[in-house]
Amino acid sequence: MCGIVAVIGSRDAAPLLLEGLKRLEYRGYDSAGIATLELSSKAATGVLTCKKANGKLANLMNLVEQESAPGHLGIGHTRWATHGKPEERNAHPHMDSSGGLAVVQNGIIENHITLRKGLQEKGIQFVSETDTEVIPHLISQELNLLKSNGQEASGSLLLEAVRRVSLKLKGAYALAVIWKETPEALVVARRQAPLLIGLGEGEFLCASDTPALAGVTRTILPMEDGETALLTPLGIELYDHRGQRQQRSPSLLHGQEDVVSKRHFRHFMLKEIYEQSETARLWVDRHLPLGLPEQAPVAFPFEDSFYEGIERIQILACGTSRHAALVGAYLLEQFAGIPTSVFYASEFRYAAPPLAPNLLTIGVTQSGETADTLAALSMEAQRREAYGDPAFISRQLGITNRPESSIARQVPNIINICAGIEVGVAATKTFLGQLLAFYGLALSFASRRNSCSTKEIISLTNELRALPNQLSVLIDKHDQMASTLAPLFLDTQNVIFLGRGINYPIALEGALKLKEISYIHAEGYPAGEMKHGPIALLERRVPVIAIATPGVVFEKVLSNVQEAKARDAQLIGVIPKEFAKEVFDIVMPIPEVSEWISPLLSVVPMQLLSYHIAANRGLDIDQPRNLAKSVTVE
Ligand code: M6R
Repeated sequence: MCGIVAVIGSRDAAPLLLEGLKRLEYRGYDSAGIATLELSSKAATGVLTCKKANGKLANLMNLVEQESAPGHLGIGHTRWATHGKPEERNAHPHMDSSGGLAVVQNGIIENHITLRKGLQEKGIQFVSETDTEVIPHLISQELNLLKSNGQEASGSLLLEAVRRVSLKLKGAYALAVIWKETPEALVVARRQAPLLIGLGEGEFLCASDTPALAGVTRTILPMEDGETALLTPLGIELYDHRGQRQQRSPSLLHGQEDVVSKRHFRHFMLKEIYEQSETARLWVDRHLPLGLPEQAPVAFPFEDSFYEGIERIQILACGTSRHAALVGAYLLEQFAGIPTSVFYASEFRYAAPPLAPNLLTIGVTQSGETADTLAALSMEAQRREAYGDPAFISRQLGITNRPESSIARQVPNIINICAGIEVGVAATKTFLGQLLAFYGLALSFASRRNSCSTKEIISLTNELRALPNQLSVLIDKHDQMASTLAPLFLDTQNVIFLGRGINYPIALEGALKLKEISYIHAEGYPAGEMKHGPIALLERRVPVIAIATPGVVFEKVLSNVQEAKARDAQLIGVIPKEFAKEVFDIVMPIPEVSEWISPLLSVVPMQLLSYHIAANRGLDIDQPRNLAKSVTVE
């Protein structure tokens, strides 16, 4: 995780770095730091200033305001701790022993222990516990070696030293380096961690993600895996992992990538929950325009060949994206008739099932940068390629909210959920966008495979068209209702979420949302599993939130819920208003819709209840403890 920003240009670097870091703070907020380089009128080398502060970025901002960090070249970092506690000494940038070279890094250096030992044997003293600190020392050693061979300090020399060091590093990382002997050179590199270059007017920025470029430029050059770049006032030199110069044209950022404002909302999360009706509206406009033929009820940009011959599907994802995948699998199996399995990407990497033929692999990741998901997809593609049988050829699709991210460069087909940037660490509107992508896929496959009748397909598309308005009303209503209910949870320590069938993943998602932002222990179960163990947890102080929508398992859920009621649990029902309200202590009503579409609505009360419980406890909702938005480490 972690966010990195680097800048070289004609303006003061510090304000640009801090502004960029502010927009990347969602990636980590344990500590932050910047290093800047100022040309010195008295000496050939520049003056390097490094400022770091533990905790949120605001601490660093205050420090820089008081003590200043001059220079037109600089690097910055916001940290999500992996190696070493969140303390100032572990904050980036990290320096070499001379204090003349500074590095920021996002990722994990897997062989840092061996590298550290080797450096310590040569007398290097470390000041932090981080894996990153080996990098400035290694670069410094390479520079000394190159200089001792008669080479002069220059941007190219720094680039060569970074390239040599990157050959020694194992793991996934993106990094930026400045050196006081080259006060007009910035070197950046990436391997399996995101990094892109922004081309501004008279300046270049480099960052882990596009929001950091907001207000500076929309012209970007995403770096490819294994590339290293030298940025100077004269331009950009880009090299691949073999040291070959690369020439690529920059592209323009589309959409709302630079809109990062809470508007009138108290938190990004609340704003993003409200934006779900718009996410649905845009999706319906784009993919379900009126007048589509019955045999192709969804407008997706895929050729017929994309669908041909697919006999099964496997989906790889983490966290909330995996919950969307579980709803997707239900739809793909039950509506479209395709056997579908869902895997935790982190588990799949090391225990993939035997290869099956004619299989589509779908990776779901809102950020497009989740290391486990990307690695699982890449591993799957490689083993299929190695197998060499045409029936087992790798067929992959990515579902993401970030079409400029790594997944979009890694897999051949992408569904862009177009939910707009999501800043709150707890995923909400991107979850809805992912669900909608699966509804589109299920409809596309169903119509091609005749797995259900035209009437059923038309009925589902009509329900989807009604969704934006329903969501808008539902969000308003539950915002108020959840804020009234939240005080009841002030002393709550455990909550059980129940669902079945297509709503079981929504119970999992409800529990995850509550855990993430309120730190209340919560678990989601398929309602029928309660009696096989979890029922032992129930008592008066453990609320049970059950989703029950008319359909295949409606009566079953109600019976399971009665079992909880008999154990004195407080029962909260997410149910259509007029159904079984006598069973529940509290009803959070949702519209009466078909079971197929119910997850798109039942998730809203879950999100808003979690939000208000956390807000009522005064917690930092958009930046919950220990979490980060984009998990780019294994
Ligand atoms: O970017 P991704 O969708 O791949 O992220 C996967 C998970 O890290 C993410 O869903 C996480 O569980 C969120 N914090 C959920 O709110």
